[in-house]
Amino acid sequence: MDSKFKRHLVTAALPYANGAVHIGHLAGVYVPADIYCRYLRMRGQDVRFICGSDEHGVPITIKARQNNCTPQEIVDKYHYIIKDSFERLGISFDIYSRTSSKIHHKTASEFFKRLYDQGNFIEKESEQYYDQETGQFLADRYITGTCPKCSAENAYGDQCEKCGSTLSPTELINPKSTLSGNTPVMKKTSHWYLPLDQYEPWLKKWILEQHKEWKVNVYGQCKSWLDGGLQPRAVSRDLDWGVPVPVDGAQGKVLYVWFDAPIGYISNTIELMPEGWEKWWKSEDTKLVHFIGKDNIVFHCIVFPSMLKAYGDGFILPENVPANEFLNLEGNKISTSRNWAVWLHEYLDEFPGKEDVLRYVLCANAPETKDNDFTWKDFQTRNNSELVGIFGNFVNRAVVLTHKYFGGVVPATNQTEETDNEILNAIPSIRKNIENNLETYHFREALKEAMNLARLGNKYLTETEPWKLAKTDMDRVATILNVSLQICANLAIAFEPFLPHTTSKLKEILNLDTTRWEEFGKKSILESGHKLNEAKLLFEKIEDSQIEFQINKLNATKESNDAAGHAANKTGDSGAPATLAPQKEECTFDQFMNMDIRTATVLEAERVPKTDKLLKLTIDTGLDIRTIVSGIAEYYSAQEMVGKQICILANLAPRKIKGIESKGMILMASEQNGKMKIVTPEERLQNGASIG
Ligand code: MF3
Ligand code: ZN
Repeated sequence: MDSKFKRHLVTAALPYANGAVHIGHLAGVYVPADIYCRYLRMRGQDVRFICGSDEHGVPITIKARQNNCTPQEIVDKYHYIIKDSFERLGISFDIYSRTSSKIHHKTASEFFKRLYDQGNFIEKESEQYYDQETGQFLADRYITGTCPKCSAENAYGDQCEKCGSTLSPTELINPKSTLSGNTPVMKKTSHWYLPLDQYEPWLKKWILEQHKEWKVNVYGQCKSWLDGGLQPRAVSRDLDWGVPVPVDGAQGKVLYVWFDAPIGYISNTIELMPEGWEKWWKSEDTKLVHFIGKDNIVFHCIVFPSMLKAYGDGFILPENVPANEFLNLEGNKISTSRNWAVWLHEYLDEFPGKEDVLRYVLCANAPETKDNDFTWKDFQTRNNSELVGIFGNFVNRAVVLTHKYFGGVVPATNQTEETDNEILNAIPSIRKNIENNLETYHFREALKEAMNLARLGNKYLTETEPWKLAKTDMDRVATILNVSLQICANLAIAFEPFLPHTTSKLKEILNLDTTRWEEFGKKSILESGHKLNEAKLLFEKIEDSQIEFQINKLNATKESNDAAGHAANKTGDSGAPATLAPQKEECTFDQFMNMDIRTATVLEAERVPKTDKLLKLTIDTGLDIRTIVSGIAEYYSAQEMVGKQICILANLAPRKIKGIESKGMILMASEQNGKMKIVTPEERLQNGASIG
């Protein structure tokens, strides 16, 4: 345990209150954060676990319009669904509040005002789309039009859902306001910006030099933002839902949701501890850790720290920001809008008493270093063969046999043998491994270690076979059961951060009031003579029919999505449909203009000897006659190519291919199935006509 710190302030990303919480949120953020906090508390640390609903932002106002109600009604509905489902899953927040609360509005407003008064912002005018009929500036999501990249209709001002491109509203062809259906006009508006560029040197030092220990995905994302150069970021919006900008003449403007939401961590701490909150945020001996998903990294590592730095007054910065990757569901991206998700509140209703099964599966399969997939089959297997087959089975055998042979009383140990000592001596090192893994945010590994102890116990019973010895050697049976029960007690400690419902059941069975982490590893947690309670099963098998029910439910979603024309997002791309390559990184206009693309005609063609794919082409580019070697022999014969007009990248640096100098490249269109076709002008043009 890191003794540098006196207290731990742990935050979990504030979920948007425009929908319920699903397994992706849980695996990425809330389950690991909860395990971490429960562990710290067991270690006797002073911990506050802070969360709440993020109730501002444009998606909430859009949802309200769609449902013909107010944004407040939307957030009221989801806030309580979320809060209640977290509680049922056993996420042990010290406070779960909300950003529409009075105290948050006050805190966020004062925070902004102080930065404003200190001169930390720059104010800039820009032109934005405005709906003249409704008299409103339009947030990106309130503008739709034709995608400039893929020509899909109804692309949003910030993104095309068809091809996944990031857009800005002015790029849309034929923009329309979703409020009135009218074509919006450009109108001047003024906003406040946090000049992140000014914080860049400081951020580079703080993150890139002083936090090399952060997870590689987190460090890497920060590095690429910092290397790319930071820009001032607008911290206000023209919108009527949010925290009003507390400055004269700012009517109709609110704080940008990503400005107010992280301040929610502070507001919620104040709400929890109106008197003592300050030492939790302003004292160097507080260890602040933010649990988030990977899409939140820039806000927690770059924007919020810059806000705190600008504020001054001793605010501390996070020691770590353990962000996870994403969890997919049955091979597809989880999506709230396509209802492709397992919703926590529905799970809890459909699997009563199985809170810990979900906690177990999500932790065992957590997307810690890469995106991972949740499947119902895997869920069933992990329950049936690991929880029921190993952990549950072991505990049940130990307790039932103790009842059978010793009336439910822990028998005293007699002579121990090597197998007994081996397993008992393994426990302290398992404890150490769990500790090290938990303290470095490797929750899957930690859980695996805990499970290993159950596995060892199960194996021990299977090998020692006390039920057979009962006929001949009751002394030996007593020792074996004593050892087994000590393992059960150790399991009750080891699993407590992960599976709190199960361990309280287990403690009940073992008749243990409390378990303390310090006892983890001990050989005599249960004294001989201690009376156990009745045996009960810790876990139940999950039947095929239950899994089929879930799979059918997802299939129904898939069908209704297909009918509505939403393609499922196959995973492993940036949101583009499965059949297409994802869009490449943005290039500048200048980069594009540097490419010299022209028409040319093939004069001669021959196979390059000893190759399958290469043709050597002599072409007329209008400028010169030159040679290009191209890998198109799979798709076109030499004869076919002669006389064809093609398009080439003329100024590609010359390359030697199989000893032949190739000057340029032929443009080809490739389909996902691997087929390629040359790209040619619609009608024959003069050679050397430039394309662009
Ligand atoms: N609501 C955001 C999301 O779900 C997270 C906000 S985290 C906070 O992605 F720091 F802003 F609170
Ligand atoms: Zn598009």
